[in-house]
Amino acid sequence: MSEDCIIHEHDVVIIGAGGAGLRAAIEASKSGASVAMICKSMLGKAHTVMAEGGAAAALGNKDPRDNWQTHFRDTMKGGKYLNDWRMAKIHAQQAPDRIRELETWGAIFDRTEKGLTNQRNFGGHTYPRLAHIGDATGLELIRTLQEKGVHMGMDVYMEYTVRRLFKTDGKISGCFAYNRNDGKLHIFKAKTIVIATGGITRCWAVCSGSWEYTGEGHALAYWAGAEMGDMEFVQFHPTGMIWPPSVKGILVTEGVRGEGGVLQNSEGKRFMFDYVPDMYKDEFADTEEEALEWVTEIVEGKLATVRRPPELLTRDVVAKAINSEKDAGRASTHGGAYLDISWRDPDQVKKKLPGMYHQFKELAAVDITVERMEVGPTAHYVMGGIKVNPETQETTISRMFAAGEAATGLHGANRLGGNSLSDLIVFGKIAGEQAASMALEIKEFLPINQSDIDEVVAETLAPLGREGGENPAKVVEDLREMMQNKVGIIRTEKLLKEALNDLDKLEIRSQSTSPGTSKIYNPGWHQALEISAMVDVSRMCALAALHREESRGGHTRDDFPVPDYKYWGKINSVITKKDVMAIEHRSYPPIDDELKKLLDIEDLHEEE
Ligand code: FUM
Repeated sequence: MSEDCIIHEHDVVIIGAGGAGLRAAIEASKSGASVAMICKSMLGKAHTVMAEGGAAAALGNKDPRDNWQTHFRDTMKGGKYLNDWRMAKIHAQQAPDRIRELETWGAIFDRTEKGLTNQRNFGGHTYPRLAHIGDATGLELIRTLQEKGVHMGMDVYMEYTVRRLFKTDGKISGCFAYNRNDGKLHIFKAKTIVIATGGITRCWAVCSGSWEYTGEGHALAYWAGAEMGDMEFVQFHPTGMIWPPSVKGILVTEGVRGEGGVLQNSEGKRFMFDYVPDMYKDEFADTEEEALEWVTEIVEGKLATVRRPPELLTRDVVAKAINSEKDAGRASTHGGAYLDISWRDPDQVKKKLPGMYHQFKELAAVDITVERMEVGPTAHYVMGGIKVNPETQETTISRMFAAGEAATGLHGANRLGGNSLSDLIVFGKIAGEQAASMALEIKEFLPINQSDIDEVVAETLAPLGREGGENPAKVVEDLREMMQNKVGIIRTEKLLKEALNDLDKLEIRSQSTSPGTSKIYNPGWHQALEISAMVDVSRMCALAALHREESRGGHTRDDFPVPDYKYWGKINSVITKKDVMAIEHRSYPPIDDELKKLLDIEDLHEEE
């Protein structure tokens, strides 16, 4: 291959620069390792900022009854018990320290009357648990980590897309990337790599993520032979904007419901009372009076003594309820539901939810202090991802680590809001620490096979030499529409089989797209290259969904509408790259007896 590649050498290469990547980079740099951070976009532009409402940690500041044990229990219950309980325990135990650490690094959280870090209510959390900065928590978290990180000496490579992980003798030896601005090709030799690339939700037409979110991290790991877990579980956040069309999918923070927002259908009925699942009956109010009493206690700063309002059920439940109201012909004007916070004091709304106030005012000409918002589900997060060792975050490939949304385990079948920011600071730290400690033990960089380099260089440049093919943007658009319609909130065997077929056809189309010939600032070329990742992550999702014949958390099958406790409920899907994409099912080790006592034992249906 004649094309020259620029070579870099780093002990630890971190791919992805959101919260997990930054937290990993800080930890790895601290240990003295030379660290590279590769960002697809500009540093600081990450989906982390879309976790607006807060970071979950049992600090007990707002309600002293909270503790790590309750956070562990809520996370497992919210995940419908498909979580890796070992990760759920580490997360619940370490999240408070990670939040306090952020404060020492300059994060400015909202305060309680006593001057402590304030905490708000969110779906599925028993107590007010989300440390927050208005409704811009992810943004402040990124700002803090970025400021800390850049002073630790890491090298930042902005606007690079990584296209291949290299393995030598079965171990990670580096990766290949190209610079999105000038098209130059780069090889990063690495002793260890951390994948912290976030998720895949740009594969759906209506999503809360921006253009970067095309699933390369998941695809890179899969192509390299890593085990991928629970890929059927995609979170549709119940409240995205739905009107006007240009802003469809943009997130409306769960913080609105945490501050007392109520959901109504076209008849003005507060419909969530009709959707409280049996497993949550003891915890959620079944009358408007009780819900009002809860909210009054919260607004007055008292400890709640009654059950929570049903708007604070978990996201899987709320998203499906909005969908069911639509199917029953009771949708809002533009096909979603109404979300009303206008009954609260306008100054409080503006203080607690400044971003939402401006977002609706500027994008939809709606004043949320006097009018209802219109909202509907938006693809927001993938619970599935790269399988990791819960203690070290090492993947099934030697010398490769993963953290944050790119990894799987913590959230099971459904993630609780706020558990993402805490996930990425807890497990980002562990991944960075472990990747650096392993790298510092390794004396030499492994050689990278020239044939592997030649192959990926040829693949990367191929679209530039194609003429007369279709525009890659059209293939991407068709893929996103197809996934929205066939692998969305409600799935069936027929739709999933069609989706897998469609993906084969999209893959063929993607191989003959023509993005033009320039390597300089050519977004068509980037899209032509992204499609292969989008096809494979979409395939993983559709395949795992086809094989899970039950409904649970973020996976609903119209043809198997209830959870199957006998078999499917207790096991997780695992996908690996063989001659074809291969799927099997496996369990995590049985839960520790002491931890099991913390769970609502009847939820486990052990006798069935
Ligand atoms: O609704 C939100 O603010 C999102 C938070 C999250 O995904 O954790």
